[in-house]
Amino acid sequence: MPRTAPKVRSEFNRFLNNDAVVPPVPGDAVPFHKGLPGYKPTPLYSLPGLAEEFGLGDILLKDESNRFGLKAFKALGASYALHRWMKTYGNPSGVTFCTATDGNHGRAVAWTARALGQKAVVFVPRGTTEARIAAIREEGARVEPVQGRYDDAVRRAAGEAVKNRWQVVSDTSYPGYTEIPAWIAAGYTTLFAEVDAQVKEQKLAQPDIVFLQSGVGALAYAAVMHYRAAGRKHRPALAVVEPVAADCLLASAASEDGAPVTDHGPQDSIMAGLNCGTPSLEAWEHIKAHCEYFLSIDDIFAEEAMRALAAPESGDPSIKAGESGAAGLAGLFALCRKPELEEDREDLGLDESATVLVINTEGDTDPGSYQRVLGESR
Ligand SMILES: Cc1ncc(COP(=O)(O)O)c(C=O)c1O
Repeated sequence: MPRTAPKVRSEFNRFLNNDAVVPPVPGDAVPFHKGLPGYKPTPLYSLPGLAEEFGLGDILLKDESNRFGLKAFKALGASYALHRWMKTYGNPSGVTFCTATDGNHGRAVAWTARALGQKAVVFVPRGTTEARIAAIREEGARVEPVQGRYDDAVRRAAGEAVKNRWQVVSDTSYPGYTEIPAWIAAGYTTLFAEVDAQVKEQKLAQPDIVFLQSGVGALAYAAVMHYRAAGRKHRPALAVVEPVAADCLLASAASEDGAPVTDHGPQDSIMAGLNCGTPSLEAWEHIKAHCEYFLSIDDIFAEEAMRALAAPESGDPSIKAGESGAAGLAGLFALCRKPELEEDREDLGLDESATVLVINTEGDTDPGSYQRVLGESR
């Protein structure tokens, strides 16, 4: 347990631009996912007990911890991107797909490559845990550890792809590489389409604010595509949550000109999926125009959120959330607990009339670490 007060940083967006054009959600994303074996909408829960504890109207939680049996939402992106890639460039034969990952995206690429009968090579940064590496290998991929951070793994994947004529399937876009990352983000929009349908079916209130835990920003970009779609009536505020150890989106928002910062922070958070030092180039442009708020939080809030979800005190359902999975809720915890964020909380309208949407983006992708966190007292 850290002895110093947990750190937080926050930034309201100075670069909002409602007129900035948002790429449309492709009409074939939901039908494509519906056609995949094992597809079913992931649950949307209402957590009234936790909402009451924090003086909110309701907390809705979209639980991605068992999407396609892969413990994370990421397969929505990789599968849809490769579907688009094949539609554009033809069916693959003898292709090796490669990517860099902190775990979940690599597993999703490996899963999709296997389904297509193709090979995958996955580059992982230093510190990627054995459990996460093993999960990627179980999908039949070759895993290549990189002696560096996530950003180094991205560069290595790009370099090896050129040398070996592999196809990069990256969720982060960079100069000269934007098509596949945009398809990946488009694939994630399916989860928000499911939320819309579930809010209606379950007669829940529409969210006023959505918390989006972010690494390179592809999930937040998907939220922008969905919630800022032309003609959409219900437009909740969008809040980006990152670890203080890797808050490249917040740092970009805090910069003088709003240009994306590079290789930012030590990237050593327990929220492994969020340990990214550079925003996805294209995602950032849309996040910058359309996300209202940026918050970065200490790991301790993620641990607290994991425990609160696993063992609710108030009759809410018990939910298995990994470190990055719990990060959206952890951002809400920080806002409700840290006195220095009180004004932000007010400005965001987080009061008893507010409905908040959080996404549990992963389950216990590292079961040992999950159990360790749960074993620690609250
Ligand atoms: C569990 C989990 N949540 C959230 C994210 C953040 O997604 P993005 O990198 O698109 O911002 C990731 C990314 O790997 C992740 O693995």
